[in-house]
Order: sequence, then C-alpha cells, then structure tokens
Amino acid sequence: MQNSPTTRNDQIRVAVVGATGLAGQQFLAALSGHPRFHVTTLAASTRSAGKSYAEAIRHSTGQLGWYANEPLDPTFADIKITPANDLDLSRIDLVFTAIESEPARELEPKYAAECPVISTASAFRYEDDVPLLLPGINMEQAVLLDRQRERRGWKGFISPNPNCTAVGLAITLAPLHRAFGVRRVHMVSLQAVSGAGRSPGVIALDVVDNVIPFIPKEEEKVAAETRKVLGVLDGDRIAPADVGISVTCTRIGVIEGHTEAVHVELAKDVSADDISAAWREHGADFLAAGYHSAPDRLIHVHDDPFRPQVRLDRDWGNGMTTVVGRLRRDETVPNGWKYVLVSHNTKMGAATGCVLVAEHLVAAGYVKPRR
Ligand SMILES: NC(=O)c1ccc[n+]([C@@H]2O[C@H](COP(=O)([O-])OP(=O)(O)OC[C@H]3O[C@@H](n4cnc5c(N)ncnc54)[C@H](OP(=O)(O)O)[C@@H]3O)[C@@H](O)[C@H]2O)c1
Repeated sequence: MQNSPTTRNDQIRVAVVGATGLAGQQFLAALSGHPRFHVTTLAASTRSAGKSYAEAIRHSTGQLGWYANEPLDPTFADIKITPANDLDLSRIDLVFTAIESEPARELEPKYAAECPVISTASAFRYEDDVPLLLPGINMEQAVLLDRQRERRGWKGFISPNPNCTAVGLAITLAPLHRAFGVRRVHMVSLQAVSGAGRSPGVIALDVVDNVIPFIPKEEEKVAAETRKVLGVLDGDRIAPADVGISVTCTRIGVIEGHTEAVHVELAKDVSADDISAAWREHGADFLAAGYHSAPDRLIHVHDDPFRPQVRLDRDWGNGMTTVVGRLRRDETVPNGWKYVLVSHNTKMGAATGCVLVAEHLVAAGYVKPRR
C-alpha cells in the first residue's frame, strides 16, 4: 500500500488546525490509523485552547459534539488543544487547516513559511501561484507549489482544495471537458447543512421542512473555482477554462452530501454511452497508485433513474466517490445533456479530499519528514 512507513522516521508529523469544527472532525476521521500521517497537534481558536479535544467539542448540555460517522479515535480525545497562532512548527511536517477564510489569511502564510499547508479554506484559492488540486484531475498543477516557494521565500506552500460544491461539479465535468469539450454549464445545488459548519451553522428551525434559496458568496466561488480546476497551466499561472458557468446554490435539510442538477452543453455530438464511459474510466491512472484514502473509483454511474439519492449515495467509496445518474439529452440546446450528482461535502469535498492530495504530494516529493 502507498504511504506505508518503513520506519518511525518516515512518519509525517501532522497538525490539524480547526480540529474541533465539522471539516476538522472529518480530518481526524480520515487520519485515524493512517499508515503515514501521525497526528501530533490539534489546534483551534482561543475558545478551545488548553482543553482536551473531547472537552473542547462537548456541548454545555454534556453531549459530545462529534459529527463524523466514524467513532472519535480515543488517542485524539485526550490531546490538549493548542492555540492556532502558537504552533511549534519545528515539530510539524504538514499542517491541515480547516478554519474560516479570515483567520486562514493570517495564519496559513505563517505556517507555510516553515512547512506545507493543505487547506479547506478559500483565503488563497484565487492567487495565481496557488493551484486547486483535485485528486485525479489536475495533479500536474502541483508544479505551481514550487513557484510559490520561490516567489514567496517559503519553505512550505499553501495548497487549498476547491469549494465543496465545486468539487462534485468539477469531478464530473473534467472527463467531459477533456474528451468532448464543455461550452456552457447551468447547475442548481441542494446543499447539506454541514456545509455551513458548526459556527455559525444553520438554524434547524430555518432549514427543516424548507429550502433556503441563497448561500452568500457561494455561487461566485463555485463558478470561478470550477473554471480554475478545469483550466490549464500557462507559465506561472493557471489559465481558467473558457466555459460559461451559471449556478444557483440552495441549502436543504440534509446533514451530509450535496446534490447538484447539472445542464451541460458539449462541443461535440456524443452518445450517452460515450459520456458514461468517460465517467467510468475517469481517474484510472491516479487510482492505480493505490493511495490509502482513495476510493475504488472516482465516479460511479447509476442507470436507475431514481438514483443518485443523497441518503443512499453520499457514502460510496467512503464519501470519496462522486455518484451520477439521470443522464439524458437536453433537447433545448445543441449537444445538451442533463444529469444529477451527489458528492460528500465534508469527505471528498473537504477533509478526506485534502488527505488524499497530501498522500499524492508525499509520493511526488512535495511533502516529507523534516527531521
Ligand atoms: N463544512 C464543509 O462541508 C466544508 C467543506 C469544504 C470546505 N470547508 C471550509 O472549511 C473551513 C472550516 O469549515 P467548518 O465547516 O469545519 O467550520 P466550523 O465547523 O465552524 O469549524 C471552524 C473551526 O475553526 C476554528 N476557529 C474559529 N476561529 C478561529 C480562529 N480565529 N483561529 C483559529 N481557529 C479558529 C474553530 O475552533 P473553535 O471550536 O475553537 O471555535 C473550529 O475548529 C472553512 O473555511 C470552510 O469554508 C467546509
């Protein structure tokens, strides 16, 4: 298996910053028992600093606020939370950050000056020397991490994942764009409440029995980031794909998993079989590396028109497989097609996706033990 350590010195010492939040908890689920990444530091805001991890996520009612399906690893429960602005970077090889954009803008460059940072935050996603690595799609863009190091004088780098709603969209569009060309995309999302985090989160009274038709700043992020993920290296930057992307993002009363209804206009006349084959074969080279957190396949295609359903399909491949279905022609536009996808927002869309990128960056030599 890739990423298996031969000696203790091969282990990568990892800090998770924002460990108490929803994405942070999924990092802990993905890192529990990991063959190569050894969690040594858990960090969060000053609200949690100094408490044990279990104390920090316990509600005032006494209930443990742990939201991953996997149990909390008891070896993490007793770790004392470090304040995020006080990490001992000399004892850390890799930082995973799961914090909001505002603290990330201040903290991530401080960490990156010393060691690699892989982030779920949007703070640096739009900078020219920052790729949005998505497993199996654009890993060749990791070369920009070297430019970052040179240009910014850092020992490390910042590698953010794309927005969780852009993740499923980009994963399903990438093989179509490569094989046939994508001209225009319309997408309507039905997004899970976990996407809003623990704080501020979504009030149950607002979202149960309801659809909230607006998620601030989400639609701009999804369009710009999907274009960047589908883009190509152009010298020291990524030239975004020339694809028109128009989206409407809504929030619904589902805990995990984003559903997206996608209309796509292709550049070529192809068949449903051509599209399904492009999806089914997608990522085979990347998956052949056998990374610890990788699923068996990046995309699963349903023929049953009643699938994908978020409750039944979000956990395919431990939440790392994007599930598509309802593929049919859109007769109102030339070369138009429609489909529905389900993507796990806190696993492939956040923490486990970042861990998989990290596994690839270890294999590619961008992340290594520093002792
Ligand atoms: N949830 C998702 O589906 C998802 C998907 C993709 C990307 N993301 C991104 O991941 C990041 C975290 O999201 P989330 O949903 O996990 O949020 P969350 O549940 O609200 O958790 C936020 C985390 O950040 C910590 N924090 C807050 N203020 C801080 C500060 N000033 N300094 C250091 N740490 C601070 C919190 O610690 P305390 O507990 O001490 O307050 C907590 O650990 C965001 O950038 C979000 O956009 C989330």
